[in-house]
Order: sequence, then C-alpha cells, then structure tokens
Amino acid sequence: MDKKKIAVITGGAQGIGLAIAKNLSDAGCRVVIVDLDKEAAQAAATPLEGAAYAADVSDENSVEKTIDEIIENEGRIDILVNNAGITKDSLLVRMSMEDFSKVIDINLSGVFNFSRSAVKKSMMRNRTGNIVNIASVVGLIGNPGQANYSASKAGVIALTKTMAKELAGRGIRVNAVAPGFIETRMTDALSDKVKEGFLKNIPMRRLGTPEEVAKAVGFLVSEDSSYITGQVLVVDGGMVTG
Ligand code: NAI
Repeated sequence: MDKKKIAVITGGAQGIGLAIAKNLSDAGCRVVIVDLDKEAAQAAATPLEGAAYAADVSDENSVEKTIDEIIENEGRIDILVNNAGITKDSLLVRMSMEDFSKVIDINLSGVFNFSRSAVKKSMMRNRTGNIVNIASVVGLIGNPGQANYSASKAGVIALTKTMAKELAGRGIRVNAVAPGFIETRMTDALSDKVKEGFLKNIPMRRLGTPEEVAKAVGFLVSEDSSYITGQVLVVDGGMVTG
C-alpha cells in the first residue's frame, strides 16, 4: 500500500492556502500546515487530521527548526506549497523602504528560505519532491500601487524557473501558479466600484475561488503533470494571455 504523501503548505491557516490544504487532504496526502500563529494553523489542520507548526517563512532560524521538526515527526517532505504572502500597497513615491523590504522578505526570500531547507534536508536525499510556488498575475504584468508585491512575485517566477533547472536531475519538479483576482478576505474588503473595475478586465467576468487555485496546485503536484517543470500556470479567468 502506498504511504500517504507528506504535503507542507505555508500560510495554510486561511484563504488560498487552506483551500490547497483541503484539496491535498482530499487527494490522500497528510497535510502539514505552517503559519505565523500556531493556534490558527492547528484549527485549520485538526479537521484535516493534519499537523500544524508556527514559523515565519522569512526567518531563517525559524524555518530551519520547523523543517527539522517536520522531518523528525513525519519522516520526510514530499510536497511543498510556498503560499504564505502579504501585501503592503501604496504608490511608488509614497512607499517606504521598510514596506518594500518586508514584502520582498516574506513573499520572495521566504520562498527561497523554505525551499532551500526542504530540498536540502529531505527532497534531495530522497531524490523526489514537488514544489509549487504561489505567484500572482501581477508578477507577469505589474500593477499600480504594488511595486513591492509585483516585484516579489516576478522574483518568485524567476526563482521557480531556476530551481526547476537545478533540481530536475534530482527528481524534483518546481512550478508556479499565478492567480488573478480570487475571492478571499483581501478582495472582500474592496469597494464595489473597485471590484467593477477589476471585472471589466476579466474576460470570464467573475473572480476566481480559492478552490479553483487549489485544483491547479493539485494538478501540478500529481503524476498527471509528471513531465511539467519550470512552468507558470495562470489561473485568472482569461485576463493574462500569451
Ligand atoms: P491570506 O492573507 O488570506 O493568507 C495568507 C496566510 O499566510 C495567512 O494565514 C498568514 O498568516 C500567512 N502568513 C503571512 N506571512 C507569513 C509569514 N511570514 N510566515 C508564515 N505565514 C505567513 O492570503 P491569500 O489571499 O490566501 O493569499 C495566499 C497567496 O496567494 C499569497 O502568496 C498571495 O500573494 C497569493 N495571491 C492571492 C491572490 C488573491 O486574490 N487573494 C491573487 C494572487 C496571488
């Protein structure tokens, strides 16, 4: 009988990360949710019979310690979904260096940090692994008010392609999913006027759901995508093509 795959999801306590955790759990994985707050991670993991850890993805020591604990308790890491991310929006001329750096630290350096540790300590040794990084369409096309965020997500895409090339020979695939506008707390908070503006640019005339992003991740970590690595799968209702 196949052993359950161990799937680690960063920022999995809510939103898109939680939908990814649920989908991977339904697909037969044992899910490990990592988030800033242990209680929130535990509340998300318990109904899925998964495990929960608290870590800040941008903190090297916190990540090394967490990966060590996961490997000790679960044996290995088969799947890593780097989903944790934040926004700190403002126009370029008003953006502080602090807000620029914070977003890069979590969204980009966090992906490097978590991946490096999981690859070195588990996936390379086992000569198998699957990583999906959650980017964003704004990493492909830019977005006014999101200089820090769009730069971080463009960086995630380049990091994904480089990791894919470095790690293919070790049996590790690395891909990215780039969601467009997804129904989450972040987009709930927007006014109807702002939402209408978004919808005009979405050919499918609706926001996406966290579950639709989760299904794209599910495909990329499954054997159905066994010859796909270094790709960016855009999930945006047709906004960005080509
Ligand atoms: P969210 O804010 O609902 O969830 C993010 C989770 O990450 C939270 O549980 C938070 O505690 C955790 N987190 C934040 N900083 C962390 C850190 N330093 N270490 C560990 N965990 C941390 O966000 P949402 O909307 O679910 O987004 C998830 C991912 O999808 C993010 O990478 C985001 O950039 C990306 N995305 C979201 C879109 C949307 O429309 N909501 C569109 C495109 C991309």
